[in-house]
Amino acid sequence: MDHFLYRDGALFAEDVAVSEIAAAVGTPFYVYSTATLLRHYHLFDEALAGMPHLVCYAMKANSNQAVLRTLAQAGAGMDVVSGGEYRRARAAGVPGERIVFSGVGKTAGEIRLALEGGIRQFNVESEPEMLVLNAVARELGVVAPITIRVNPDVDAKTHAKIATGKSENKFGIPIARAREVYRMAADLPGLDVVGIDVHIGSQLTDLAPFEQAYQKVAELTEILRGEGHDIRRLDLGGGLGIPYERSNAAPPLPTDYGAMVQRTLGHLGCEIEIEPGRLIAGNAGLMVSAVIYVKSGEGRDFLILDGAMNDLIRPAMYDAYHDIVPVIEPAPGVEQQPYDVVGPVCESGDTFARQRMMAPLKAGDLVAFRSAGAYGAVMASEYNSRPLIPEVLVQGDQFAIIRARPSFDEMINRDTIPHWL
Ligand code: LLP
Repeated sequence: MDHFLYRDGALFAEDVAVSEIAAAVGTPFYVYSTATLLRHYHLFDEALAGMPHLVCYAMKANSNQAVLRTLAQAGAGMDVVSGGEYRRARAAGVPGERIVFSGVGKTAGEIRLALEGGIRQFNVESEPEMLVLNAVARELGVVAPITIRVNPDVDAKTHAKIATGKSENKFGIPIARAREVYRMAADLPGLDVVGIDVHIGSQLTDLAPFEQAYQKVAELTEILRGEGHDIRRLDLGGGLGIPYERSNAAPPLPTDYGAMVQRTLGHLGCEIEIEPGRLIAGNAGLMVSAVIYVKSGEGRDFLILDGAMNDLIRPAMYDAYHDIVPVIEPAPGVEQQPYDVVGPVCESGDTFARQRMMAPLKAGDLVAFRSAGAYGAVMASEYNSRPLIPEVLVQGDQFAIIRARPSFDEMINRDTIPHWL
């Protein structure tokens, strides 16, 4: 459920008309709903209520300072994957003890930053990383809390580009080698092994692969404990999917997920961490765009928008489906027609949807891409010298620009011309 609903024929973000925001900031733009962000965070928090836990929002999904501050104030931790994300989380007011650090390529500099600034744990992904982490911790005279990410070799049944839990993926260490790697970690004086980490992929619409992976984690916990490791924390990653296509069966809810976690891991008495990104931010955001032209092609009509693949890359990159809805609700009974919905960027990949059935639109009309709050603005670029589009946050009847649209001069002046030109 989100807070983007029609009222008297016009699309609202909470209590603000989307067209009012468009008039104030121009199109295209992203708009996020505070109530939806918080609702999703609390759903997870409540789903794990029976167990000691921390919801560490995977901020790669949407790392705007205002979004982070909203969630941090509600009590969320963060999952970061770079020094940049670590800095953003701290700048938004997240204490170090609520930050977990994931990722296969943490540099010595990033490790030092987090050890000096405070960190809950590093989710270690390889032996070489473990050695660097140990060395940096020793140098600083501290002990680094770690989990080791295991790759459980389960099929997450999601898009190949976002599956991470198969043995051919670059993530984690093969679960079969876990005992050996945990033994090695226990011998390194700069490390404190606190638990196990697993993340099998993103946009999962079925609980079965999660359950399979978590069962393997439960077995591994008992084995490692038997070998003297004090496994007290389990980081279960993120990955629960959202309903992009409203006509499809809805994916399981956080409540169902929480019950499954309780069932498979509850008996171990571990502290549970989860790293949801998409489910928290995805349906809390729209990308709003205006129709520039309606162009009649050979046997098809193109809806040419002012938003493009550089603003929202998911359709071009993963063939992802996003609902596209008119900001002014069509009158009941209006006949829909098929459109190819495209942006102005000069490549055919700049296509949001083919033969999408929509009520007739004309130049100047506004449309909203639903489910665009996660992996939208964060993956945007300035391809075709299109400045990054602004982001807006709504709370009740107020809205604020949380990232302004840069001017063309700002964009151009980031380049510098060498002295010989
Ligand atoms: N934890 C780790 C270690 C991850 O790698 C990810 C996502 C998450 C948590 C959060 O997963 P979520 O709950 O959001 O599914 N750009 C792609 C998604 C990439 C996901 C990468 N890792 C997309 O637009 O679909």
